[in-house]
Amino acid sequence: MKRAVLRLLKEFQPEFVSGEDICKKLDVTRTAVWKHIQTLREDGYGIDARPRAGYSLVRVPDRLYAEEILDGLNSKFFGQQVYYYDSVSSTNDMAKELVRQGARDGSIVVAEEQTGGKGRLGRKWHSPKYKDVCFSVILYPSVNPSEASQMTMVTAVALALAVRKKTGVPVGIKWPNDLLVGGRKICGILTEMSAELDKIDYLVVGAGLNVNQELIELPEEVRDIATSLKVEAGADLARVDLLQAMLEEYEQWYQLWLEQGFPVVLAKWKELSVSLHCPVRVHTLNKSWEGWAEDVDYDGALLLRLPDGGLQRLIVGDVSLRV
Ligand code: BTN
Repeated sequence: MKRAVLRLLKEFQPEFVSGEDICKKLDVTRTAVWKHIQTLREDGYGIDARPRAGYSLVRVPDRLYAEEILDGLNSKFFGQQVYYYDSVSSTNDMAKELVRQGARDGSIVVAEEQTGGKGRLGRKWHSPKYKDVCFSVILYPSVNPSEASQMTMVTAVALALAVRKKTGVPVGIKWPNDLLVGGRKICGILTEMSAELDKIDYLVVGAGLNVNQELIELPEEVRDIATSLKVEAGADLARVDLLQAMLEEYEQWYQLWLEQGFPVVLAKWKELSVSLHCPVRVHTLNKSWEGWAEDVDYDGALLLRLPDGGLQRLIVGDVSLRV
């Protein structure tokens, strides 16, 4: 009902809507309306109240509330079910729990803060409150488990394009799926999967985009190698708009991948790549490689030309750009 009151306020914005009209339209009492207005104010909405005129919405808070994400979201199923948390350990872990409870395809988990955010290769991911956009998408694709790693590249392409379109910031991709601006990381992606031998049960794809942090607010250990959109664009950005743009672009690329396969994604990935055709160092779990990032194979593996002339195929790893 709180959502219905908010919808009405938005419909009338910037005009006032009378308490009586809200009661009639939603079939609730004056006291109930007042209570919902109070709760909305506690959620951060600015609502003017004037005798005889009624209520008018004057400010929407910078929060990733489900109703804000859904308001104007132009997608078929990505983000059409939102699980919102003020604080959570990890949106990926929460997403896995929600899968067990029957969450539907394309559902997203968003959080204003993660206290135990997870990065790739067992690292931690820092998500300070109200500053970034961190979310996980739950997907049930009918593809072979061996193709799941392609999803990280589908995600990187979609998110890079969405952020570019929305902000003009020239985001590039470092193999396999880090988003960089000027050589500094701005977004990380973590794909987790549950599968049987020949069938994926579900994928949870989580992304953390640094949005409104100042450099000084980034953890000290990454301050030299990370950045945020605020730093790059020189202004605060609306996190809901960014998330909506990412979900819309992501859905399109996901469907393209399912319908047309990986080559079309890979071609766009190569266009956006900042780690191809340059010298790189690649850290894998038990070895470090140095060489020339020659190409990416049909399945997303990195093809590294070694100093001795040999070609090494790498499926997982962490790339440092040697400049
Ligand atoms: C990386 O670059 O190492 C991957 C970082 C992935 C971070 C995101 S934030 C949302 C989701 N929940 C997590 O715990 N991790 C991912």
